[in-house]
Amino acid sequence: MLTAKDFIPAAYSQTIESGEYQWSAPSNIALVKYWGKKDNQIPANPSVSFTLSNCKTITKLAFAKKENKDSLSFDLLFEGQPKEDFKPKIQKFLERIEVYLPFLKEYHFTIDTQNTFPHSSGIASSASGMAALAMNFISLEKALNPAMTDAYFYQKASLLARLGSGSACRSVKGQVVVWGKQANIEGSTDLYGVEFPNEIHANFKNYQDTILLVDKGEKQVSSTVGHDLMHNHPYASSRFAQAHENLDALKAIFKSGDLDAFIKIVESEALTLHAMMMTSMPYFILMKPNTLQIINTIWKFRNETQIPVCFTLDAGANVHVLYPENVTEKVLQFIKDELVGYCQNGQYICDEIGNGAILL
Ligand code: DP6
Repeated sequence: MLTAKDFIPAAYSQTIESGEYQWSAPSNIALVKYWGKKDNQIPANPSVSFTLSNCKTITKLAFAKKENKDSLSFDLLFEGQPKEDFKPKIQKFLERIEVYLPFLKEYHFTIDTQNTFPHSSGIASSASGMAALAMNFISLEKALNPAMTDAYFYQKASLLARLGSGSACRSVKGQVVVWGKQANIEGSTDLYGVEFPNEIHANFKNYQDTILLVDKGEKQVSSTVGHDLMHNHPYASSRFAQAHENLDALKAIFKSGDLDAFIKIVESEALTLHAMMMTSMPYFILMKPNTLQIINTIWKFRNETQIPVCFTLDAGANVHVLYPENVTEKVLQFIKDELVGYCQNGQYICDEIGNGAILL
């Protein structure tokens, strides 16, 4: 098993003056949630997610050697325009990963990034954004060290992404990704995300995620602050233990394809995440009235039709509606008839399980 030290490189065999890469990386939706972390972006509990397909960030990284090698230097463009307010987050990210990428100060970088989903949609772009950036940096390192193996390439890309935003480490490679050490999941580690290594039932093939945009406003409490509030949280230790149990249960469910059991775990995880927010000190609520309306309407529809549709939430008011591919038509009709009214400007995004980052 690799440790963090194994990702600090030895001298590179190649030199490169300038160049550019472009990667796209998708968002992901957690089924067992990451909520609470230790130093260096080490998660307090393991999580597992479906990688998405349509919601993604596309980032171009241009680089050129510079004279002054004493400091980090980069320009940041968002959809072609300079974006000063994103710079501190990127600066912090580069500082965190510099020990793993000792060439960073030798180059000036131009980072040009855009999302395929509407910005300020309330969809977190940190996972896709940090993953896309990490892919570009690992491509540069691979060019400096062509001997790098494919396995190491993706592990280190995920490790770098994790240092940008924890959930980003699950947006690199694979359809179902586990991040965090879990005893009976081979290869799982706190350092980077790994593709779920065991059998996955055909029921989960092309699983659908329709994202209902309930509130596109800026969140009152960031995920980073929320994670922090898990320190000294009265329910923290039982929550972390529960995440291990739920991941264990999901492992069996992925194999059996038992969708009723899947729904119970997934919805419970979503509500537990928000329960942790409501029971921290200070306490806060990120759900909106329409979030609850949607949840109740999904429950009623599921009861009446027996169609295995469920919801999950991330750290916000939007609702992810999850369902197997074979009920897509019925569920989309239900969404149009009964849920669109709860979405801001009637907006929702149809997505499904995808495969991870792509070099463009
Ligand atoms: C609720 O990955 O955004 O979406 O590591 O501080 O950047 P940082 O947090 P972030 O937290 C995401 C939390 C979550 C659950 C999840 O995706 O597992």
